[in-house]
Amino acid sequence: MLKHLFTIDSNKILDIDLTGIDLQRVPVHVAIIMDGNGRWANIRGKARTFGHQAGAETLKAIVKVANCIGVKIITAYAFSTENWKRPVSEVDFLMNLLGGYLTNEIEEFNKNGVQLRFIGSRRGLPDEILRKMDYAAAVTERNTGIILNLAINYGGRDEILYAVKTIATAAVAGQIDVDNIDTNIFEEHLYTKGLPAPDLLIRPGGDMRISNFLLWQIAYTEIWITDIYWPDFTQEYFIEAIKAYQRRERRFGGL
Ligand code: FPP
Repeated sequence: MLKHLFTIDSNKILDIDLTGIDLQRVPVHVAIIMDGNGRWANIRGKARTFGHQAGAETLKAIVKVANCIGVKIITAYAFSTENWKRPVSEVDFLMNLLGGYLTNEIEEFNKNGVQLRFIGSRRGLPDEILRKMDYAAAVTERNTGIILNLAINYGGRDEILYAVKTIATAAVAGQIDVDNIDTNIFEEHLYTKGLPAPDLLIRPGGDMRISNFLLWQIAYTEIWITDIYWPDFTQEYFIEAIKAYQRRERRFGGL
């Protein structure tokens, strides 16, 4: 099998088999529901939090390979508006994991040209996390590689309501003419403003649902689901998903 080597930075090299991938037709934007962390940990007799920790490592590996093959944006579902319903200990663990990630990975992100962005509601997030998010976004803002768009305290319905309220407020103030509200104006009021819709949505963990992720944006997104749990999701699986995507015919409602 033909292997291609890609240099990521001075001391890290990826060795990924890219046979069968058309590098001219790589999806621009890939969204990922990082599911299966808890089950992955359970079958190993470990606490669910162990799975989240492993899942955070998986995300790093997937961002690297995606950056390498020319994906421009990864949107990863790290914490949903519904995840607050989990036990306080798990919520606290996820917040700490996120805080640590934002502190410890900045240097590596900058080295690899990764730009960090966030979508979701700031309401309810601890101040320390908000500060770290703002700092991470600011210090990676000028990077020109892949955008890692982390969905934190994100819900698709919450995002749509946020857009509706913002537009309604502008309309009441006379800044927007109701007759002019169209998909473009609506999208300018979503958290994902300025980003194209995902081309591909990957869901590990085997569940066949959307879980309130990017409800507006995924109208014509290709979906790829695998039973593999997120911590076991390797760079090779990511390549497999890209190949499956490239075999699809996208018609966007046309013929
Ligand atoms: C869903 O799996 C996963 C989450 C709710 C959290 C995802 C978070 C991470 C992968 C790590 C944090 C990310 C960063 C950027 C530090 P689940 O726990 O619901 O799995 P299960 O369905 O097997 O229970």
